[in-house]
Amino acid sequence: MLSSLPTEAKADTARTAATDEAVLDPDAMRQPLPDAFYCVGRSDTLKAGALRAVELNGEQIVLGRDKAGALFAMRDRCPHRGMALSRGRFDGEAVTCPFHGWRFGTDGQCRDVPTLSSADAADFSRIVVQRFPIRESAGFVWVNPYLGGPSGDVPALPELGFAPAGSLVVELVVEASFDLTTLSLVDPGHVAFVHDSWWFRPSKDLREKVKTFTPTPHGFTMSSHATTTSSPVYKLLGGVPEVEIEFRLPGVRLERIEAGAKRVANYTFATPLTHNRTMLTNALYWNMPVLNLLTPLARPLMRQFLTQDQQVLQHAQAGLDRKPTMVLFGQSDLPSQWYFRLKREALQAARETRSFRNPLIRQELRWRS
Ligand code: FES
Ligand SMILES: [Fe+2]
Repeated sequence: MLSSLPTEAKADTARTAATDEAVLDPDAMRQPLPDAFYCVGRSDTLKAGALRAVELNGEQIVLGRDKAGALFAMRDRCPHRGMALSRGRFDGEAVTCPFHGWRFGTDGQCRDVPTLSSADAADFSRIVVQRFPIRESAGFVWVNPYLGGPSGDVPALPELGFAPAGSLVVELVVEASFDLTTLSLVDPGHVAFVHDSWWFRPSKDLREKVKTFTPTPHGFTMSSHATTTSSPVYKLLGGVPEVEIEFRLPGVRLERIEAGAKRVANYTFATPLTHNRTMLTNALYWNMPVLNLLTPLARPLMRQFLTQDQQVLQHAQAGLDRKPTMVLFGQSDLPSQWYFRLKREALQAARETRSFRNPLIRQELRWRS
């Protein structure tokens, strides 16, 4: 856990710090954004009639899909004696607790207490299991674990702008905080040192980069540009592709690559499981059927890439556990500072039940990577 905010460039935040931190609970800044949808797994693995237990921001949640195909998410805890409802039976309409057989509809309402005598006047209609908002988008299931009242607007779910011919998904649990893991999604400085596999980065030299960043709803985009990388992955597309990378709260990185009619999207989602465990989900989609042949080859490479992040993040977390401060330094760390500014604004907007106002401005950044 980070126990203090990162050191930010003084000039950048001195003005806002005095006002923001007076009203914001510093603890809240160390937590994942509470009122937001997080990726909890692939859509296609949650079949009708299935239940799945997931952990999200410290909550135990049971997900399911009813007979009609509608998703639901509720607290994975029977109100009677705390049994995990995910261990129960689901007939596509109601979940039966395996301990004493109480039945709950997918709306969380208790429908039946089979042990009640017909002479017993006890009324079970007021017994409910807490429900959570649940959605589907880009082939994934998303749950908002927030239980508070109405707050600001929540960040939009990522969508895929084309019909994919195929996709490849790798999930990896990182023993690190949500913030540290999410920073790796907006950190150009680590790429040359951590992701140095031949197939991703054949040249070991650091090169000067200039990128334009533009604010977007709940985040920022690194504007389209002709890529300068000589990566074989890009070469596969033929020609010079246009690449656009968007970061969006709470922890979503959307990389979209276009070359003529060819499309590739590489989406990465961070999901807080507990305060020190974060799931990284990487999904690669493409619209050229011929690339489906490469899936068996690409899967271990994608796993290797994510494992590189996992290993370095876990070691960094150990260092932050000993001394929980960071020095965010230079322009390559500005996107990391922006992450905290975006989160701070989202928390403040929620407190004031108003719309999110992006605090960032269009900016050109230079670094070597
Ligand atoms: S614990 Fe669920 S029915 Fe008793
Ligand atoms: Fe990385």
